[in-house]
Amino acid sequence: MHVFLKDPRFRGIKPFSNKIWLSSPTMHGDEQRWVDEAIRTNWVSTVGANINEVEKTLADYIGVRYAVALSAGTAALHLATRLAGEKLYGQARPNAGTLGGHKVFCSDVTFDASINPVAYEDGEAVFIDTEYDTWNMSPAALEKAFELYPDVRLVVIAHLYGTPGKMEELKAVCDAHGALIVEDAAESLGAKYKLNGHWAETGTLGDYNCISFNGNKIITGSSGGMFLTDSKVDADKVRKWSTQSREAAPWYQHEEIGYNYRMSNIIAGIIRGQIPYLDEHIAQKKAIYERYKEGLKDLPVNMNPFDAENSLPNFWLSCLLIDPDAMAPHVRGEQEELWQQESGKSSPGEILSAISAFNAEGRPIWKPMHMQPIYRTHAFITSEGSGRGQSNAYIAGHSTDVGADIFRRGLCLPSDNKMTSEQQDGIIEIIHRCFI
Ligand SMILES: Cc1ncc(COP(=O)(O)O)c(C=O)c1O
Repeated sequence: MHVFLKDPRFRGIKPFSNKIWLSSPTMHGDEQRWVDEAIRTNWVSTVGANINEVEKTLADYIGVRYAVALSAGTAALHLATRLAGEKLYGQARPNAGTLGGHKVFCSDVTFDASINPVAYEDGEAVFIDTEYDTWNMSPAALEKAFELYPDVRLVVIAHLYGTPGKMEELKAVCDAHGALIVEDAAESLGAKYKLNGHWAETGTLGDYNCISFNGNKIITGSSGGMFLTDSKVDADKVRKWSTQSREAAPWYQHEEIGYNYRMSNIIAGIIRGQIPYLDEHIAQKKAIYERYKEGLKDLPVNMNPFDAENSLPNFWLSCLLIDPDAMAPHVRGEQEELWQQESGKSSPGEILSAISAFNAEGRPIWKPMHMQPIYRTHAFITSEGSGRGQSNAYIAGHSTDVGADIFRRGLCLPSDNKMTSEQQDGIIEIIHRCFI
């Protein structure tokens, strides 16, 4: 029996009989119809009515002229980054990436799929610290980064957990320095942001924009992604690159490196069935966020914040941040962690272990990219300057690292839209018991 089930603090709580997931697919039945239709009509390929329909419907919903359906959000981010690299630095040789050693400013607290395409394209990611208001890229840190590296011309910005970042300020900094933006809206489909007084969807806010239909996203195709743009030239190029870069010849003729990144018409059928439920899913996720906020308000924690005046998140994941003085001891190594119980306090390690013991799934905050072993040698810029090597053996000082702090004190809560209110109350109760 798990140690938590014997712990007197949790007396009377029973494990959930069915696992409560962090965020699992929610099917409605229409998906089957479009998948069956594809099979019945023999359009079991990377062309077909489902692909055409999801591209058109989502372009209309999001408010862009063109949407190109791809095999994954990662594929969309790769081709978006490649387009940006080609625009900035010209066409690359077949064995080289378009970013050829150039630095690219990148969101730090995000999934590595946001920024790995910079490496695929032979660029060097420089990580920009996070702000506390939305947990996204800090405009002040971005400004500082341009002071240190004035030649940089590309910025990759993700919206964390469905909460739009401070795009007006970030765009102003990028514009002032002539930099292009790759927008990673993988987690934020349906989230809205007030840019210069006008509401717009995330996925329209960069020069090259991407969304994902991964199994855990707000709507899903089991996998899949999309590149979004107002530029016909860019849309055509991504469509060409994603289908092996064929030239207009009767045979297979290639002048550019190609990829097999197009979406399948079967996957598109699932997405086609999901699209009508996007707004319903957002409403359910919002209700989950608000129930947590209310249920946890007496604890020394805060929910993941957003700018209520200028943004409408899609509330994909509900998260919490423990107050600094309510943190029980908790240390993390590269692959293991240790935490200790302390009265009146808790830690992400303890809460996630407790939730898991009662058959529910939470998750640590994305470990910041600048802390990842693979990117340890890359620059990291905070609002104060370089975030690396700022301690001094001789002089007392400090260094801010907002991303590391949110990773240390935060966690993602079970946010599945099929979770009942009673089940969510159970999660809220488990979290309360952790603070006993
Ligand atoms: C922020 C972010 N970017 C990119 C991706 C990659 O999308 P995909 O899994 O569709 O390749 C994901 C999720 O998977 C994500 O959360």
